[in-house]
Amino acid sequence: MNTLDMLQEANRILSINDKGHYTVPTQGLYPFQWNWDSCLTALGQQSLNNDRAWIEIETLVAHQWDDGMVPHIVFHEHDDGYFPGPDVWRTGRPTPTSGITQPPVMGLVLEQLWQRSPQDETTRQRCVKLIEAADRWHAWFYRCRDPQQTGLVALLHPWESGRDNSIDWDAALAAVPVDHVEPYERRDTLHVDASQRPTKFEYDRYVALLQTFRDLNWDNSKLHDASPFQVVDPGFNAILIHSDRALARLAGQLDRPELASAAQRRADRGTTALETLWSAEHSQYVCLNRKSGGLVDSASVGGLLPLLVLPDGHPHLNALCRRLNHSLDVAPFGVASHPPEDSRFDGRRYWRGPSWLIVNYLLIKGLQDNNNAALAERIVNASLRCIEQSGCSEYYHPITGEALGGGTFTWTAAMVIEFLQHHGVSVAA
Ligand code: GLC
Repeated sequence: MNTLDMLQEANRILSINDKGHYTVPTQGLYPFQWNWDSCLTALGQQSLNNDRAWIEIETLVAHQWDDGMVPHIVFHEHDDGYFPGPDVWRTGRPTPTSGITQPPVMGLVLEQLWQRSPQDETTRQRCVKLIEAADRWHAWFYRCRDPQQTGLVALLHPWESGRDNSIDWDAALAAVPVDHVEPYERRDTLHVDASQRPTKFEYDRYVALLQTFRDLNWDNSKLHDASPFQVVDPGFNAILIHSDRALARLAGQLDRPELASAAQRRADRGTTALETLWSAEHSQYVCLNRKSGGLVDSASVGGLLPLLVLPDGHPHLNALCRRLNHSLDVAPFGVASHPPEDSRFDGRRYWRGPSWLIVNYLLIKGLQDNNNAALAERIVNASLRCIEQSGCSEYYHPITGEALGGGTFTWTAAMVIEFLQHHGVSVAA
């Protein structure tokens, strides 16, 4: 596939998964609207149709909860092909949604959309509404997921991380009690081979956590302290901090000084607190298990994402770049979600080894902010190598480039457009 074929294929995938005002990640496996999928998809949509890109995020925000949370799934239409559906979540929303959230890339994406839009009054008003929504969401994070005011927010469910079955969660998840799990039937393994999906052990605990929160009527003032799973992820927090900085810059330009200072204050506190997650042993950031109080022995890609927030000249930048270069040396198809040297690595199983283009994109963004164009380009090339060999899949084996998970995948296609249009790759006619 040459670059023009890739671009055409990516555009085709965005249009077949487009439901008019939101996009499904892929037909069958994920038939609803997912939070961070939609935001990242808007980046690809914008080069086809600017208005459509803004609509994608407006649709998501229309389902923001009263307390500020933006849910991880919006169930716009009935579909039996996915578990757990609205009948299991029972969040009581007018349009059903899940009851947990996902990585807050919205702020980061809004800044890009704004910079690439005609900056007229209509776009300005749209953008102001969306940054106000993102600001409420971010305030919710620190209020409900950091009640002790440590400066770092916790995930209460592995699905919130967006890296569902990462090795990062193994120890914390094993401690979740499963004695009251209701009988359930998985649907994901009807669409994708079970060897590429989470295990039953993990699913039992995903469902147990969901039931715990449902029993508390999804009251976010209670969930954090009651949750048997509380993990602080450096990648998630870095995304939140980066998005807050983006909000602060946008709010400055859009004449919302109070919003700008609130976002900047949150980001500054988060940046300082992030340093408590540095692991000298792994030469990168790692998760903290807030329940046990210990750092997690897992050098996943989440711990490289603080590249998004470290300022030029920060003492840990070189170490993170070395880790990335090494990862590409041993696994040239994108950035492995977990190092192949670790005995727990599984190159085909979802977030336990495979590479994902959206994570590559976030790393590239961080590297570009830090003037490391050479390494950013290396990751762009590693990402496009996956597409060239295997098309737009959900994820890839990082050593062989094998296509894994769902096919014709929306956010992968959106990232292809992003890389080809905005990251220095020339599209040959
Ligand atoms: C999986 C991924 C998650 C994504 C969702 C829809 O659950 O782990 O990050 O948002 O699929 O693509």
